[in-house]
Amino acid sequence: MTTDPGSPAAPEAGGRPGPAPLERPADAASIVIFGGTGDLARRKLFPSLWNLWSNGLLPADVAVIGVGRKIASDAAYREEIGASVRRFGACPPQDDRSFGQFLERIFVVQGAFDDPATYGWLKARLAEVSARHRTGGNVLFYLATPPTAFGTIVRRLDAAGLAREAQGWRRVVVEKPFGRDLASAKALGAELHAVLREDQIFRIDHYLGKETVQNILVFRFANGVFEPIWNRRYVDHVQITVAEDLGVEGRGAYYESAGALRDVVQNHVLQLVTLVAMEPLTSLAADAVHAEKVKVLQAIRATGAVRGQYGEGTIAGVQVPAYRSEPDVDPHSTIETYAAVRLDIDSWRWSGVPFYVRSGKRLARRCTEIVVQFRRPPLMLFQQSGVGEIEPNRLHIHIQPDEAISFDIKAKAPGAAIRVEDVRLSFDYRSIGEGCAATGYERLLYDALVGDSTLFHRADMVEAAWRIVTPILEAWSSRPAPDFPNHPAGSWGPPAADKLLRRDGRRWVVG
Ligand code: BG6
Repeated sequence: MTTDPGSPAAPEAGGRPGPAPLERPADAASIVIFGGTGDLARRKLFPSLWNLWSNGLLPADVAVIGVGRKIASDAAYREEIGASVRRFGACPPQDDRSFGQFLERIFVVQGAFDDPATYGWLKARLAEVSARHRTGGNVLFYLATPPTAFGTIVRRLDAAGLAREAQGWRRVVVEKPFGRDLASAKALGAELHAVLREDQIFRIDHYLGKETVQNILVFRFANGVFEPIWNRRYVDHVQITVAEDLGVEGRGAYYESAGALRDVVQNHVLQLVTLVAMEPLTSLAADAVHAEKVKVLQAIRATGAVRGQYGEGTIAGVQVPAYRSEPDVDPHSTIETYAAVRLDIDSWRWSGVPFYVRSGKRLARRCTEIVVQFRRPPLMLFQQSGVGEIEPNRLHIHIQPDEAISFDIKAKAPGAAIRVEDVRLSFDYRSIGEGCAATGYERLLYDALVGDSTLFHRADMVEAAWRIVTPILEAWSSRPAPDFPNHPAGSWGPPAADKLLRRDGRRWVVG
């Protein structure tokens, strides 16, 4: 029998739609979430699992076990998770029957991560639910916990015989931060490798699950026109902005030990740099993609850095407090909530083309965007026609909140005289897709379940990224910023960040 690849997937028994063409349900497995009652699990992981389930991408043979101290019974846990999916899910459940079936596959183990008894209970529970839901002995452990717990959890899993692949596979997903500098990243890597092979470790970065981020490679390598101009001969510079309008949102204690450089630049932003800067791939195999990313990271040097911290200010007409007044934040904190860095890539392709990156909290608006600015035409032919300064061509890859690609070009305005106008060619990502917005975790959870590590960080990638930012962190911690707070909330960051580009004859652009 042949299948029409364009036809919608047939609904499964029970009303759940089957997967879309070219997609298959993930392997049967138990998913164990340490930190099963935490924020990440409630806001992102369970809503994403629900999205996968309702799109037919989780197998019917799946069971999810939340491990945490706070919940005593399966029934109470299912109620709490049901409420979280309804509240935080991008696709709140419409179909009660299917949602009920999803919730029935959720279980709890009550216990502390560092208590060996927890792992005994977990082992017994896993045996029971694996048999009941025929998960085939495959287990995905998701460590949605503070990184300080990773080593302990993995050691205890090992001691309880839970990390051994006697029957089925065992994989472990860890959340960033992967260390807090090069030395601690290496130490964490060694702790994980003492128990697990590298191919069992999935270091998650939710930015790599975003549709528009995944589209960067398709855009570059499925279109023949860009590759010939994607280099130092045609590109003047690249900018990456990851701006948030939100503050630390109750995570003051974590943020005080992190700051913008560790929290966002070392991971999400540098990953975006690798996607823009990497050489054309010869294969989409995970190792091939990782190898190209590592090459880029190893060739990067930070050649300028600016830090900032927001004071009180106004965002979209609402007065917001200074970082130093947030809960769990030291009133004299010297942690940066803003970082801008100039990166130079020592490669034939990018030599002399700076990549300027910046990220901050409580900025003017939420906006993640990559701008590739091309060189100006060699002859300013139209300068005599009252045109004045002609803006260069810019390619904007809008990642969020808009999901789009636009290209700024010049065109002649209608009329007898030559008047050159800036116009924009644009493509809105929503015009080729439909369905619910994803959290970014769906794709990554799915990939971990099918064993595809392409969108995850490999150990050498993490270390190469820390090598870039660690000297900046060291310099900043040895000389606390005397001028903090140095920009109001609701602005685009401290004036020094503008100077970083101005001294090179450039300026930040978004939009
Ligand atoms: C997380 C950071 O990794 O990314 C947060 O820890 C930040 O501080 C978040 O707010 C940004 O993600 P997104 O998807 O909202 O851009």
